[in-house]
Amino acid sequence: MSDNKLEHDDHTGTATTGHEWDGIKELDTPLPRWWLWIFYATIFWSVIYMIFMPAIPGLPGMSAEGDHTRGLRNHSERANVAAAIEALEASRASGFEALRGASIEEIENDPQLLQFVRAAGESAFGDNCATCHGAGAQGFVGYPNLNDDVWLWGGTYQDIHDTLMYGIRTEHPDTRMSIMPAFGRDELLSNSQIQAVSDHVLSLSGLAEANSEGAEIYAIQCASCHMDDGRGDRMQGAPNLTDGEWLYGSERDQVINIIYRGPYGVMPGWEGRLDDATIDALAAYVFLLGGGEDATARPTGQ
Ligand code: HEC
Ligand code: HEC
Repeated sequence: MSDNKLEHDDHTGTATTGHEWDGIKELDTPLPRWWLWIFYATIFWSVIYMIFMPAIPGLPGMSAEGDHTRGLRNHSERANVAAAIEALEASRASGFEALRGASIEEIENDPQLLQFVRAAGESAFGDNCATCHGAGAQGFVGYPNLNDDVWLWGGTYQDIHDTLMYGIRTEHPDTRMSIMPAFGRDELLSNSQIQAVSDHVLSLSGLAEANSEGAEIYAIQCASCHMDDGRGDRMQGAPNLTDGEWLYGSERDQVINIIYRGPYGVMPGWEGRLDDATIDALAAYVFLLGGGEDATARPTGQ
């Protein structure tokens, strides 16, 4: 033990603490100045921060929200988020408002409306349509690609809007409806006749040799819907069989199968399930994917 009187170390000139063990003395080296000033600055800053910002939690008798001191700025991240959501909804509401009753030309010529349709349409499409039509609306077997200009039921804004409202082959009285017979299952045609007419169908787009027996069967059984030249009929949702685009596949087996069992593609109707403004946005979005058609330029086939 030492005698408590502070002495100075010979080598460094620094005071000792007065502690000594086996001749080793403990120096009382002061904290570096720069370190100390930073330390004081942080304390100073924390006091300023506590005055202006929410800081001390859980004091008894505090207001209910958050249960902490609010600070002079009364800052609340939660309130900021709520305000941002409200602003977004307000801007969306005005977008939907502007969309109501707008024609597709008006939408295309109004950059703000166009941008709104792209954003609102894309998110509604992802939520409601992508499961069947694919995230990029590229389609799958039995589910049409909505990017191209091949349309079963028509590609004007109004056509697309009607398809969305009432669906295809649904219960709705205004739904798009037509039923291709199941020629094999219902024994309207024999298996060899189905093969012959399949070859005729494939020959329309150069995928098989001409088949005269098949052509005769086609004229009697199929032309009423798919038309004499095979270019289809949008009034009945009957696809163009000459364009090389296949909803159900172009393999001979796939074509035979579809004629045997008859296709029955069902697309849900969205009236009542989505609000009208969202359906407007979706119809315009699909129209603008690339395949939209002018009301005037409606070809008879596809
Ligand atoms: C349950 C699956 C399913 C969902 C969900 C679905 N569709 Fe469809 N959609 C179909 C099928 C199947 C067809 C083709 C029906 C046929 O063969 O005529 C179709 C056809 C269409 C057509 C007509 C294409 C044409 O060539 O005329 C449009 C447009 C369309 N869908 C848009 C949408 C949009 C937009 C949504 C989301 C709101 C959606 N679909 C949701 C299954 C679906
Ligand atoms: C009552 C009208 C009707 C008749 C008759 C009819 N079809 Fe169809 N056909 C359709 C419709 C509608 C579709 C599309 C149905 C769907 O998507 O669910 C279709 C689809 C097809 C497809 C699939 C096309 C593709 O893109 O994948 C083939 C192939 C076809 N029909 C061949 C025939 C042949 C061959 C006959 C005669 C033996 C025939 N159809 C008679 C209405 C008809």
